[in-house]
Amino acid sequence: MVDWVLILAIEICIVTFVTWIAWSGVMGAPWLPTPKKRVRSMLEIAQVSSDDILYDLGSGDGRIIVMASKEFGATSIGIEVDPLRLLWSRFAIRRHKLRNKVRVIRGNFFNVNLTNATVVSLYQGYIINKKIRDKLAKELKPGTRVVSYRFILDGWTPVKTNEDESIYLYIV
Ligand SMILES: C[S@@+](CC[C@H](N)C(=O)[O-])C[C@H]1O[C@@H](n2cnc3c(N)ncnc32)[C@H](O)[C@@H]1O
Repeated sequence: MVDWVLILAIEICIVTFVTWIAWSGVMGAPWLPTPKKRVRSMLEIAQVSSDDILYDLGSGDGRIIVMASKEFGATSIGIEVDPLRLLWSRFAIRRHKLRNKVRVIRGNFFNVNLTNATVVSLYQGYIINKKIRDKLAKELKPGTRVVSYRFILDGWTPVKTNEDESIYLYIV
């Protein structure tokens, strides 16, 4: 009896985990956190400051939006589809006492208007980045910086590249 319950519990955990990964994979990249050192490099290369409104597309556990506000003074907005990461990031925002500067929107970033962004950060995938690129081209103001980790925005030429850390900076 105990064996059955244990096996069932493990199966439920596996199915839930795979569903999470698959859901994020269909919408965009699954959750893989950017190492904090690279987050700092992304924010430095984009010259984020207190004048900026930064959007992180798929904000995961909130590490980019938290650092952008805490260390660089920006107002930051994360958009995250995964409820667990969303909860986690909201907890981090409270823990760092950043509720007046940082918020997270629950949902699909394709449905969020980005016109007031001055900086957009992303860590998605090569294919999904093509769709994101078209959205950015439609919505962002000229001069907005876009900083992408690991994947390029096909067809756009980066103004700065950090090859060692796979960071690409674009200006609209
Ligand atoms: C590779 S992780 C990056 C997380 C975070 N930006 C970082 O750099 O640590 C990608 C995140 O995007 C989220 N995501 C994928 N597609 C999405 C979509 N269409 N709308 C909102 N979030 C999405 C995933 O749930 C995941 O947390």
